[in-house]
Amino acid sequence: MRKESLVSINDFSKEEIIELLEKAKSFEENPNRRVLEGKVIATLFFEPSTRTRLSFETAVNRLGGRIIGFSDAATSSSSKGESLKDTIMMVSNYVDLIIMRHYLEGAARYASEVSSVPIINAGDGANQHPSQTMLDLYSIYKTQGTLENLNITMVGDLKYGRTVHSLLQAMSHFHPTFHFVAPDELKMPQEYKIFCDEHNIPYYEHRDFSEEVINQADILYMTRVQRERFTDLMEYERVKNVYILHNSMLAGSKPNLRVLHPLPRVNEIAYDVDDNPKAYYFQQAKNGLYARQAIICKVLGIDVD
Ligand code: CP
Repeated sequence: MRKESLVSINDFSKEEIIELLEKAKSFEENPNRRVLEGKVIATLFFEPSTRTRLSFETAVNRLGGRIIGFSDAATSSSSKGESLKDTIMMVSNYVDLIIMRHYLEGAARYASEVSSVPIINAGDGANQHPSQTMLDLYSIYKTQGTLENLNITMVGDLKYGRTVHSLLQAMSHFHPTFHFVAPDELKMPQEYKIFCDEHNIPYYEHRDFSEEVINQADILYMTRVQRERFTDLMEYERVKNVYILHNSMLAGSKPNLRVLHPLPRVNEIAYDVDDNPKAYYFQQAKNGLYARQAIICKVLGIDVD
């Protein structure tokens, strides 16, 4: 079997990203194709999930494959002390593909090195969430008609938010300008700012979530403050409600602005934003189904068209 894991969004070239976006569009037009007939796919979720796991499992079901796995590691033998290596080696005996979420950064890379079948990283700690990035790119492309030369404003937990880390790297192919809105405790890590410098990507850091920042954005990418990544819960309490987007704050925004959020949200987007046509986060999550169908077929080397 061809073995091509997706661990980091950097595993894909610009051409492959564009090819995947075209495939996602094709799956949106027809999501029910039995191209995974006879394939068994494992979803191993060592961390909680709603969208990622269910959209991957829906993707497999709509393509005619079968799913095994767990949504709670407490029900697996890892709760008896079985190592990640042994778990992956066992499961890769049974299936054609493993989709895995893990709380440790680097876990997906390690799994890809010991597995005999491809691994799709469904989130590893604060590191990467590449399938989320593909659905984010698809959502941006659908709403803006292009990925080129966009103003992307990222708001909230830029330190622990793996979705913003992956998205930043993926957008580097498309000449973005970034605005990072975060409190000092949750600023974009230095390594990603160095990445921007190395790729000649302009970025601006803000502490204030001002209307001036909102009004120049094409994409407003809101994020949740990730309680599960804090070692000091007092610090979490200090920053958890630092930025809340209310509908009135969008009054002067650009007509093409769309508000994205990987979800789940806690308090960072008020419910009065949901009815604004610029709110796109639920459609964004729906796009995940098509983006993930495209990713599964790519890693398994299945050419649907
Ligand atoms: N966006 C995202 O990863 O959501 P879940 O945690 O629900 O999978």
